[in-house]
Formats: sequence, C-alpha cells, structure tokens
Amino acid sequence: MSGYVDLHSHYLPGVDDGVRTLDESLRLLTGLKALGFDEVVATPHIRTAMFENRKPGLVKAFEELVSIVDLSTVPKLSLGAEHYFDDVFFGLLEKDQVLPYRANKSILIEFRYEAWPMNLEQRIFKVELAGYMPVIAHPERYHALFSRTDSLDSLLDAGCVTLLDTMSLMGKYGEQPRRAAERMLEEGAYDAACSDAHRPDDLDVMARAIERLKKLVGKEEADALLGTRARQILEGTYAP
Ligand SMILES: [Fe+2]
Repeated sequence: MSGYVDLHSHYLPGVDDGVRTLDESLRLLTGLKALGFDEVVATPHIRTAMFENRKPGLVKAFEELVSIVDLSTVPKLSLGAEHYFDDVFFGLLEKDQVLPYRANKSILIEFRYEAWPMNLEQRIFKVELAGYMPVIAHPERYHALFSRTDSLDSLLDAGCVTLLDTMSLMGKYGEQPRRAAERMLEEGAYDAACSDAHRPDDLDVMARAIERLKKLVGKEEADALLGTRARQILEGTYAP
C-alpha cells in the first residue's frame, strides 16, 4: 500500500531527540517510503527548556536537508513542528512564528502528559481564531485518557482532531498507552495515525504496528487513518 501520509516524524537531523545524522535521516526516510508513505512531514519539537527550536532555524535545517537528499529516493518532504502547548507557543502564535502543516490550516500540538493544561478549551479557541485546526499528538499517552476517553470530548467538540502514534499499539510507550490506544480505536476516537518515528530502528516496530492497526480496525479503516484522512488534515480539507 502506498498513499500514506506521515503527519508526525522526527527525521530532521540534530534538532531534537529525533535522528542525529544525515545517514539516519536517509535511512528513516527511505524506510518510511518502503512502508507506503508518499509524504512525510518533519515535526521537530518546539519545547521550552528541552528543544529551544524556532521557525527560522528549523526552516534553514529543513532546506539544507532537502538540498542534500536525492528526492527521487524519499517520500515528498514538508515541514511542520510538534508544538508544546505552553505560553511560549502562544507567543509564537501571535508573532506568526509557528510551523503549521503546509496548507497553513492545521497545526500539531502536544500537551504535558500528567494533566490537562489550565483553561484548555479557551486556549484551543485561540489557536482556531489564529486560523488553525489543532491536531492533538498521541492522545493515548495523556494520563487523563488512560482509562476513559470522556475528557477528550470537549476538545473534539471544539474542533480538534486526534493523531494516533501507531507504534503505541506495540507497547512502545508502555502498557497504559497501548491499552488506551486500542480502546480509543474501538471507540472511533482517532481521526488519523502517524509514525512519530525518531530513528531508523523505529521502522521495524512501525511495520508491525501498521499490521496490528489493520488487524484491529480492518485494512480499509487503517488506510483511511494513515492515508486519506491524514492527507486531508495535511491539506486542510478535513472535516471531522
Ligand atoms: Fe513527536
């Protein structure tokens, strides 16, 4: 199967906890292509005190990578970011220094794991006022969702969409996220799925995770999660 779109991966070398070298980047990209991905978005972390990335530096690093890579051997490449949802993010949002997906209509955000941020719905509304559909990274990894999905409802009602880390299904992030992911898949709580790959070693896990996803939801729905709907989110045409 090809036609998949990876909305979340860390293949930009040396900018966060993703790949460290050009060689790792190329191995990850060619591997994702072999798994069926036609387009992969680099989503490096922008997270204060951990990964102090800013748009100009990330754009430069991305352009450098694109200029070096033989583009016929890799999926289509584009740039976004995984934005940590804190005050710094809202400052960047005001200054138009965020990195939405390439159609400029949707944006990847992550929360802290332990508890939902304060005033979450109002803050989500601010993101939407700025013109972006919030794409919530790995909901299965948030503690509030480990055993019940209820607290996600207000975010879905507010127009957010959800992105499964497919490797969660293999227990990559522990048993609680694995179970939460299976439960939320069963509930139909996911809009799309991604790799969130950080290095070439993730490819084997991702290959098995895609098979697991197909087993759990059927091939058609798996293809929609990794393909059709992921592309619509990327291109800003998705209506949840
Ligand atoms: Fe990530």
